[in-house]
Amino acid sequence: MQKINIAIIGGTGYTGVELIRLLSRHPRARICYLTSRSEKGRKVSDIFPSLLGACDVPYSDMTDEMMVQIGKNCDVVFFATPHGVAMTHTPNLVAQGVKVIDLGADFRLQNLDEFSKWYGLEHTCGDVLAKSVYGMAELGNTQRDDIKSAQVVANPGCYPTTAILGLKPVIDEQNQQNEPLILPNIIIDAKSGISGAGRNAKMNLLFSELSDNFSAYAVAGHRHHPEISQGVHELLGSKFPQKIRFVPHLVPMIRGMFSTIHLTLTDKGRAVDWQAVFEKTYQHEFFVDVLPKGSLPDTRSVRASNRLKIAIHQDDDVLTLLVVQDNLVKGASGQAVQNMNLMFDLPETCGLDMAWGGVAVVP
Ligand SMILES: NC(=O)c1ccc[n+]([C@@H]2O[C@H](COP(=O)([O-])OP(=O)(O)OC[C@H]3O[C@@H](n4cnc5c(N)ncnc54)[C@H](OP(=O)(O)O)[C@@H]3O)[C@@H](O)[C@H]2O)c1
Repeated sequence: MQKINIAIIGGTGYTGVELIRLLSRHPRARICYLTSRSEKGRKVSDIFPSLLGACDVPYSDMTDEMMVQIGKNCDVVFFATPHGVAMTHTPNLVAQGVKVIDLGADFRLQNLDEFSKWYGLEHTCGDVLAKSVYGMAELGNTQRDDIKSAQVVANPGCYPTTAILGLKPVIDEQNQQNEPLILPNIIIDAKSGISGAGRNAKMNLLFSELSDNFSAYAVAGHRHHPEISQGVHELLGSKFPQKIRFVPHLVPMIRGMFSTIHLTLTDKGRAVDWQAVFEKTYQHEFFVDVLPKGSLPDTRSVRASNRLKIAIHQDDDVLTLLVVQDNLVKGASGQAVQNMNLMFDLPETCGLDMAWGGVAVVP
């Protein structure tokens, strides 16, 4: 069976290590290169003992020479790096026919001004950006086909994955009925585990600052806000403008994300059976579970899996959506492997169809 030769740039970060975990069990994947500027020469299992026997590739420095080798020998490169890194190297990789999946934000926002405003950088490859595809297969079969034929895929942000997939059935139904079913005021109250902030030594990420504590951040504006808005208005093509209020919080747990989406229904919207609409929308999606009426999902139930679970609570003019996922899997590396599967014409679930959740799962 022919293998897919893979490089992971940023193989010591939380999403990079999660890619190693998933790809080391993927039947068609062969990890050939891992980069880390700070851990060059060390083996994965020296730093992450849980991966002993899973991957013996040593970390390499990310030099120009190394990038040339990667370009020559790899079929796909995952960038699990901060924004700004992928766009520097992607044009060369694309020119060599290599596919790129960026877990960072370089190819997520199609509007160059928005990108500069939120990320404080000028985009350096607008032409590549214009041809890149937002890697969220569950947006529908057109998106899925675009991912299949893409050379560069922007892996979605973690919060936007919960928000956009949570809102999709509502926006689609509203577009179909061609009438407002919700008031144009969407509130997304979102919580993330601390791994969402990356594997960094920062004062606010210290155990004594975070444990036994709960806080909101970026209330005035978060980088994922324009991505959610792009998802609602452009990818889902909402016929009606939506004002989106998005407030993220940090929860003292390592991994997991919980977004509560508050919507107010119009008279027309009240008449809709939203449970049925959500079930129909996602009936063929392996990675999206619409839970039975009245369910209360929790983050543990999706831990280490590529599943996103949604519960719908409808009461008079109030529609509340509870959306959970693992920020490092469906919110990052699992969705990236799902995209790789599509780009290489493999079953979407290849390497991702595993048991998950439970009380004592230690991924
Ligand atoms: N954490 C999440 O839940 C999550 C979810 C979705 C998306 N994302 C996105 O995914 C990307 C990676 O996130 P993460 O949480 O895995 O980050 P992280 O834990 O901070 O790891 C970053 C990795 O990139 C390397 N790196 C840092 N600066 C670099 C540079 N200038 N050039 C090359 N390599 C560099 C680091 O290793 P060295 O410094 O040793 O080179 C490290 O391996 C980010 O863009 C993030 O926004 C994260």
